[in-house]
Amino acid sequence: MKVHVFTYGCQMNENDTEIAKQLLANAGFEIVPSEDEADIVILNTCAVRKKSEEKVYSHIGKLRKKHKKIGIMGCVAEKEKENLFKRGVSFVVGTRALNRIPEAVRNSKNGNKLIFLEDTLNEVEYQNIETRSSKHHAWITVIYGCNRFCTYCIVPYTRGREKSRPINEVLTEVEALADRGYKEFTFLGQNVDAYGKDSEDGTSLAKLLSEASRVENVKRLWFLTSYPSDFSLEIPQVMNQSEKIARSIHLPVQHGSNRILKAMNRRYSREEYIELINNIRSIVPDVSISSDIIVGFPGETDEDFEETVALVEKMQFERLNLAIYSPREGTVAWKYLKDDVLHEEKVRRMSFLLNLQKRINRELNESYQGREVEVIVESSAKNGLFYGRDVRNKIISFNGSEELIGKSVLVRIEKISAGPLFGVITKTLDI
Ligand code: SAH
Ligand code: SF4
Ligand code: F3S
Repeated sequence: MKVHVFTYGCQMNENDTEIAKQLLANAGFEIVPSEDEADIVILNTCAVRKKSEEKVYSHIGKLRKKHKKIGIMGCVAEKEKENLFKRGVSFVVGTRALNRIPEAVRNSKNGNKLIFLEDTLNEVEYQNIETRSSKHHAWITVIYGCNRFCTYCIVPYTRGREKSRPINEVLTEVEALADRGYKEFTFLGQNVDAYGKDSEDGTSLAKLLSEASRVENVKRLWFLTSYPSDFSLEIPQVMNQSEKIARSIHLPVQHGSNRILKAMNRRYSREEYIELINNIRSIVPDVSISSDIIVGFPGETDEDFEETVALVEKMQFERLNLAIYSPREGTVAWKYLKDDVLHEEKVRRMSFLLNLQKRINRELNESYQGREVEVIVESSAKNGLFYGRDVRNKIISFNGSEELIGKSVLVRIEKISAGPLFGVITKTLDI
């Protein structure tokens, strides 16, 4: 039987897809690169906003027209559970039962409707996952779930409570992958700073980064996503001890007004956030900090929005992901707070921030003009150029060749924009 897996959503879903593909291959199924070739299509889904969920339903509709068997995994599977059978899917596999997928595919042949939602993740042999989307950069989920319950967010309902993987297991995975030629690793968690807090052995993200940086052949380590009041200043300190730890921290603030932060149940104030960033920057001055912001949260006034604008000006983020508030069924904000900011106003606020951030990006990028930076080549882009990232997560584009993928090169920056930087390779550092 031929199976295709299509991924929506965050890097954690990407990592889950890699695991699902390996388990399917181990069970003897053929993984095919396009849905048209497949007998069964598995959608790994995202429910973070209404739009993300709607995309899944329209994809299901298209697949049904093509008479494909359909399986659903990921966050919509957890959110909608057996309701999905009404849409004609054959099986539903929850985020912590992804190792039940081969069984679900096998048994769906008989026309059974199958649903697996239990937590069986401790059975996964992570170090044996070969079906990764990159040959040199590996995602590694180190902590599942989220305990934060921000009032707008569906993730704690779809991913369950925080559960860290044992540090030795993660390090074994890093070593196994480094032996097979992987150089870059991204440690993933919805609240990655909570890593180790649920175990009693004193493990922490800082410790994991520090130990992983000692693994031979590891070139660069990343981690995502940080939560301000769980973030430890030990992290910038370990950055200073190892060049292998990327100078890049994704630290979503979500809003600039204390009133809205409180309504969001973010457990820090605007002032605490600013102090945290100042502290991080005083330890690692060239660190790159990126963030997420939601506009149009219930009750957001012009004054609240102005506080977000002023914070964005002040913080000089290297990148900003903006989202319009989307009520999610079952969350506290959906139950108790009226979605009262007009849609046109939400769009206006969003585009105001987009333009502001574009200007900031351009100004920050000026400092790259003429500089030479070390870049790990990631892939080729649609325009024929190749691209990669420097240690500050800056995307840099240049003329390259396939055999450079996964290697380090020096690139002299010749042209900047508000988005990627453009340059020429001056030296190949590892061959
Ligand atoms: N764990 C991360 C992010 C998880 S979701 C954190 O705490 O920041 C990724 C981003 O989606 C969030 O940062 C938020 O900006 C956005 N998001 C989450 N729920 C949303 C909602 N209901 N409406 C709009 N944006 C949302
Ligand atoms: Fe969602 Fe908040 Fe958890 Fe992030 S920290 S996943 S926004 S509940
Ligand atoms: Fe989406 Fe679930 Fe990730 S809701 S953002 S796929 S954790």
